Amino acid sequence: MEDNKLVYLLNKMTLDEKIAQLLQLATPFFKGAKDQGEITGPMQSLNISEEIVENSGSVLGASGASEIKSIQKAHLETNRLGIPLLFMSDVVHGYETIFPVPLAIGCSWDLELAEESSKIAAIEAAVSGIHVTFAPMVDLVRDPRWGRVMESTGEDPYLNSEFARAFVRGFQGKDLRSETERVAACVKHFAAYGAAEGGRDYNTVDLSERELRENYLPAYKAALDEGCEMVMTAFNTVFGVPATGNKKLMRQMLRDEMQFNGVLISDWGAVKEMIPHGVAENEKEAALKAITAGVDIEMMTATYVHHLKELVQEGKMNESLIDEAVLRILILKEKLGLFENPYRGADEEREKEVIMSESHRAVARELATKSAVLLKNDNVLPLQSDQKIALIGPFGESGDILGPWSWKGSKQAAVTLKQGMLSQIKEEQLLLSKGSDVETITDEQLTEAKKIGEASDVIVLALGEHSDMSGEAGCRADIRLPKAQLKLLSHMKELQKPIVVVLFNGRPLDLHGVVDEADAVLEAWFPGTEGGSAIADLLFGEVNPSGRLSMSFPYSVGQIPVYYNHFNTGRPKGAVDAQERYVSQYLDIPNAPRFPFGYGMSYTHFAYSEPKLSCHTLTADSPITITVTVRNTGDRAGEEVVQLYVRDWSGEVVRPLKELKGFSKIALEAGESKEVTFTLSEDQLRYYDTDLSYASDAGSFTAFVGSNSRDVVGVTFTLE
Ligand code: BGC
Repeated sequence: MEDNKLVYLLNKMTLDEKIAQLLQLATPFFKGAKDQGEITGPMQSLNISEEIVENSGSVLGASGASEIKSIQKAHLETNRLGIPLLFMSDVVHGYETIFPVPLAIGCSWDLELAEESSKIAAIEAAVSGIHVTFAPMVDLVRDPRWGRVMESTGEDPYLNSEFARAFVRGFQGKDLRSETERVAACVKHFAAYGAAEGGRDYNTVDLSERELRENYLPAYKAALDEGCEMVMTAFNTVFGVPATGNKKLMRQMLRDEMQFNGVLISDWGAVKEMIPHGVAENEKEAALKAITAGVDIEMMTATYVHHLKELVQEGKMNESLIDEAVLRILILKEKLGLFENPYRGADEEREKEVIMSESHRAVARELATKSAVLLKNDNVLPLQSDQKIALIGPFGESGDILGPWSWKGSKQAAVTLKQGMLSQIKEEQLLLSKGSDVETITDEQLTEAKKIGEASDVIVLALGEHSDMSGEAGCRADIRLPKAQLKLLSHMKELQKPIVVVLFNGRPLDLHGVVDEADAVLEAWFPGTEGGSAIADLLFGEVNPSGRLSMSFPYSVGQIPVYYNHFNTGRPKGAVDAQERYVSQYLDIPNAPRFPFGYGMSYTHFAYSEPKLSCHTLTADSPITITVTVRNTGDRAGEEVVQLYVRDWSGEVVRPLKELKGFSKIALEAGESKEVTFTLSEDQLRYYDTDLSYASDAGSFTAFVGSNSRDVVGVTFTLE
């Protein structure tokens, strides 16, 4: 169907039909849904008629080819103009084959594999009938108390942007119409949801416009530049106005400046939430604000269907606002080919073939090995295959390693650490004991764990957070491991055996009571379906760890927010002429994080040559290159993430100590060297000025190259 046919269709729709098209409802509202029993409750609370459901435009959370086909069929039988439904769901880090959580994927610094993971997620979702995924989530995060940091790729605008692009490419492919086993992507949560005050979910965000533009907007923009079809609003305020009713944010920044013409959907219930936020007296005002801001689809509240008609009749808004929203939705349906084939992709046979296929699981395993970060290793890892190993802790035999947003994933189908280890060593070498639950411990558990520990050569402690401790509404003020597990660790320490801690969790933790006590610490995150196999690969040295942190680990909660690309202040600690007391510091903890952005160890070592510049002067027409040679000085092959940072020594506004400008993940055999060359051009040195113009400043810069944001060597150049 061409665009003018869509306009023709739009013109045939009544005002009621158009408004209903803007409503998104959860699955139980629909005929043909498996779970009919739940309809009455939510339907009554939204107070909508059957006619509205029949004319609504999209469904949230349905899955499975047979269910989706039956809902679509029933819908087409009752919808007067035969407009198919759009099926949308949260397929965030896998559908049934679950990949590591996005924060972990961020630590892989592997864009190709990230793209492959979202392609696989798209294939599994599309054959199950889903058309749109509510992903990628690209909110920049600096506060690990916020439970949703696990959904983001981390604290850096450049790295997040690269991952945003990779995920969109993987989900959408090149052409949604012909590639029926891809899904449309919906980047979220626009904007700056990750900056919630105090790391408390749904809380206020108050950023300067410069900060918003410089750090928070780039990743959404990158997703849109890659062709992302949809955007979701954020729950928070931006410039004092909830994002969902924020005209400046949505009309000016998103639509005009970023030239986004696709569908903008509210987050769940966010339109009505303008009432408790305190910018709308009632539902009618909330509806007016959202449609005026340009929100096309209202998710799971019904202010549009209850009030837009009245608002048009009263002359408070122009019907053209509704028309443009409906047209955008129809265009998306058309792009997905739904008018020709409303059952696009949904295929029970393909479901059997591809979901959790061996090849999908192999990619999940590879990505999980690349996402884990070795934080400490005092010569205990890799484990030796003839050692007697005690596997202790609540995550040793747990399938709760998929992490939040894995609703279709099965914990039972996840490979546990025990299973992974047993595929590498003999059963008699592995001694097992739970040691504690995630949040509680008993004397019996402790006694049993000690007995097992005593009898072993090395203790592997599988510790962490259960999946409800992060994710949406999963915020914590104390981000240490639960006390029960710290107790277990300190008792194990008394046995004077080497201790390897493997962490399963969704956020950077405060590792007091862990790092100093353990001989090795491996951050496994929530590694997904193949987690146990992947972690065993790393523990036994089948694979050499190569993950690098995409978010700083704080020294303790009092330091938060802590991120590498901060400003210097006028009284930086450690300056040559600094006083002892009157500098920017804490009296009781260091300024530096426990582990910095970009950090991660390997079983081998890499030596860097002095970086060399092609020229010490950079101009708008002549970029420079920075070259460094990296050598694997150890005795096993490994992968290194070579990182390029830049500092602008003097700008119109203060500039960060370092900003990531490039990276290259390279594989090196033992003894092998490789040259890595980065190109730096003037546009990479631009920033938002006091008047919000985006420009660079002539002057001195340093290019730093190294293995993380702390351990770098710099060379200075001038921008003319
Ligand atoms: C979350 C979104 C999600 C939506 C639909 C909301 O509560 O904030 O990220 O896409 O629910 O499930």
